Amino acid sequence: MAAAASSSTDGQNGGSAEPGWGKRWKIAASTTYLIGLGTVEVCQNVGEHVLDHIRRKPPNTSTTLQGKVCVVTGGNAGVGKGTAEQLAAQGAHVVIACRSAERAKDAVQELKAKAAAASKKGHTWGPVESMSLDLSSLRSVHHFADEYARRGLGVDVLVNNAGVMAPPDRIVTEDGLEAQFQVNYLSHWQLTRELLEQRQGARVRGKAVRPLRIVNLTSVVHQGGHIWFDDLQFEKKYWPFACYGQAKLAIVLSTKEIQRRYNREGVSAVSVHPGLVDTELARNFFTGVLPRPLQSCLRPVLNPVYTAFLRTPEQAVQDVMMAITSPEDAVGGKYIANGKVRAANPVADDPALAARLWEASEEIVQKRL
Ligand SMILES: NC(=O)c1ccc[n+]([C@@H]2O[C@H](COP(=O)([O-])OP(=O)(O)OC[C@H]3O[C@@H](n4cnc5c(N)ncnc54)[C@H](OP(=O)(O)O)[C@@H]3O)[C@@H](O)[C@H]2O)c1
Repeated sequence: MAAAASSSTDGQNGGSAEPGWGKRWKIAASTTYLIGLGTVEVCQNVGEHVLDHIRRKPPNTSTTLQGKVCVVTGGNAGVGKGTAEQLAAQGAHVVIACRSAERAKDAVQELKAKAAAASKKGHTWGPVESMSLDLSSLRSVHHFADEYARRGLGVDVLVNNAGVMAPPDRIVTEDGLEAQFQVNYLSHWQLTRELLEQRQGARVRGKAVRPLRIVNLTSVVHQGGHIWFDDLQFEKKYWPFACYGQAKLAIVLSTKEIQRRYNREGVSAVSVHPGLVDTELARNFFTGVLPRPLQSCLRPVLNPVYTAFLRTPEQAVQDVMMAITSPEDAVGGKYIANGKVRAANPVADDPALAARLWEASEEIVQKRL
């Protein structure tokens, strides 16, 4: 992926006119709103740390997911790795889909070592393996889906977890798309569609298909998001956080649309905001807000602050597991945040907007694959 000037004309919508004041005001208002929501979350996180410290829950050793096959994108780090671990610990066969072979190998080794330690205590984990997937490339998505189909594993749970947040400069992928839009939303949408098509193909061939739960990682930032159909790729002016908000709102919209389109076929979809979590993604973002010369020297000072004010990946994983294991009628098509089903941005309930986004996504992908 290459960093490009914000005035780049690569991508979908063309046009180099500056955005109007309407857009500027809307983005300023949503940023203020999100700072408020973020502050509330930070306070909740501190409370959650205190409660967890008092309660000291025993580790979950159930094997309820034995025999299930689960795919986790970005399963080599952060919330994705924690989710892969929890799934394997509950007996599932886990495939982590990662862009870096080296980081994937390290994560698989780490999880295998934990499985070996658990087995000494009489607890059998499911197998964990990795497959290559770079979400900044639709070719890679297609290749992953083909390889996956060739293996004939079927899929019970798909966790679309990988993500990038607010890089300061606009990054353009090999497909000529803005990276946050593609990595967070579009490539996951395409991956999901290809796996759904495989599933439908199997059904047409008379094979039994298993129920599928799709869990899409979004963010509270979607609450201030907007789908800018006149400039989906943020070519006119690049606002890193507004661009993230658009991608995360697109995820919530498409989650609800998948639920509407595929629910009759045994598919359910849930979106999850994992909270503000102490991972590289969050640390890079908060450190990145500081002036560049201060960033490296303040990093060690900030690390304990992050630990106190952000959720641990383990706490976030509990919400992802809730989305994976709750009955369909409790969570299908819904939005989970901080351990509860909550109201998403009201525009995410607009089926016309979701259908429009779906068509726009099809058009973008068709031009490139
Ligand atoms: N942390 C938070 O506070 C927070 C808040 C709200 C929502 N979320 C969402 O939660 C999800 C997980 O985030 P996290 O906090 O666990 O972040 P993280 O620790 O930075 O992990 C992100 C994962 O995404 C992978 N990834 C990035 N670009 C990719 C690409 N082009 N192709 C394939 N994989 C790619 C990364 O792979 P590499 O290791 O190769 O980079 C990594 O495995 C994201 O969707 C994020 O937006 C996080």
